[in-house]
Amino acid sequence: MELKETIKKRRSIRKFKNTDISKEIIEDLIECARIAPSAKNRQNWKFLIVKENTKNEIADIMLEKEKKSKVSLERKIYNANSSVKATANIMKEAPILILVLKQYENNWTIGDSLSIGGAIEHICLRATDLGLGSLWIRDIVYTQKEIAELVGHKDMELISAISIGYPNENPRQRPRKKLNEILEWL
Ligand SMILES: Cc1cc2nc3c(=O)[nH]c(=O)nc-3n(C[C@H](O)[C@H](O)[C@H](O)COP(=O)(O)O)c2cc1C
Repeated sequence: MELKETIKKRRSIRKFKNTDISKEIIEDLIECARIAPSAKNRQNWKFLIVKENTKNEIADIMLEKEKKSKVSLERKIYNANSSVKATANIMKEAPILILVLKQYENNWTIGDSLSIGGAIEHICLRATDLGLGSLWIRDIVYTQKEIAELVGHKDMELISAISIGYPNENPRQRPRKKLNEILEWL
């Protein structure tokens, strides 16, 4: 697929078929993340593939906390109250969840986080290119410590996650600002 066509075709996919994805395809996605640029070429990321029971346990951690928790400050800031439950259920439906972790290092938080965003977008675009659907997930952050512990990486910070699977929907492009709203020539 032409790069621009892939960029235009990518959507957040929230309905997935119950079809497994081969190891070769998953390695291909992570290979695309591996060659992404990173601040100072630190490559401060780790990708963990979770499936089946572990994946569903992660979603259950999110659902449990969502049920119990009062409205936290972070939720108020990001207005994320209602999406955790929906996201957790999508994670259950998708056959693969990629957890994206980084070392705890205060000085580099922004550089590393930006780099991780770039690597995730490589994964999402390659997924589209291969006929797969992806969902970039931030809703795991409220339970990042619990999830990192569950997967044996208490020493690392869970930054983001990506659900991957064969799409079972074909959504239209979501609204975007016009070019003249975001582009300014001086
Ligand atoms: C950093 C980031 C975090 C996101 N987190 C979530 C999430 O937790 N749950 C979800 O359903 N969608 C999530 N999304 C998807 C966005 O809602 C989506 O990209 C946006 O609505 C535009 O739709 P599109 O991706 O189909 O173009 C996230 C996207 C980004 C870039």
